[in-house]
Amino acid sequence: MSVAPIFLVGMPGSGKTTIGSLVADLLHREFYDCDQVMEIKHDRTIPDIFEELGEDTFRDWETSVLHTLSEQQDTVIATGGGVVLREKNRKLLNRFPVVYLESNLQILLHQTRTQNTRPLLEGNRKDVLEQMLETRSPYYLEVADLTIDVSSRHPSEAAKIIYRWVREGALA
Ligand code: S3P
Repeated sequence: MSVAPIFLVGMPGSGKTTIGSLVADLLHREFYDCDQVMEIKHDRTIPDIFEELGEDTFRDWETSVLHTLSEQQDTVIATGGGVVLREKNRKLLNRFPVVYLESNLQILLHQTRTQNTRPLLEGNRKDVLEQMLETRSPYYLEVADLTIDVSSRHPSEAAKIIYRWVREGALA
């Protein structure tokens, strides 16, 4: 029997890729990261896509990747932090089990401190993240079936919570 993908949403630096691949291992599912799939499909890095084609094109491609991955059964999928900005994406996510990895500003600042792969975090990272949190938090909550505070949890603990949630019949 095949089962619908589980999506992870949350801010940049919330641990979607790390936790998602741990959950996939626990559940014996395939793991996909939307950004990585986009980079392979278009043979460009995310910063290059932003720089050469702009955010609108990135968002169009993101919607397309999301749609394609939503048809892959038995998977765990880490989305990009801005996926919830488009209503179309939120509508799609609302049809699937979605886990929101909630994190506070301090942790997000720490986790993104050495990043150079996130074009939107260039400049004053604190201000940008603060603004993103404010805009996006209601959207993450809107699509989430399960919210986990990952600010003070190790990724493996968060992964186990998701694993138990699935095993306890969350997807039934
Ligand atoms: C973005 C987050 C990134 C990536 C792109 C845009 C955003 O993914 O999709 O740089 O809008 O927050 P992560 O959340 O994995 O950093």
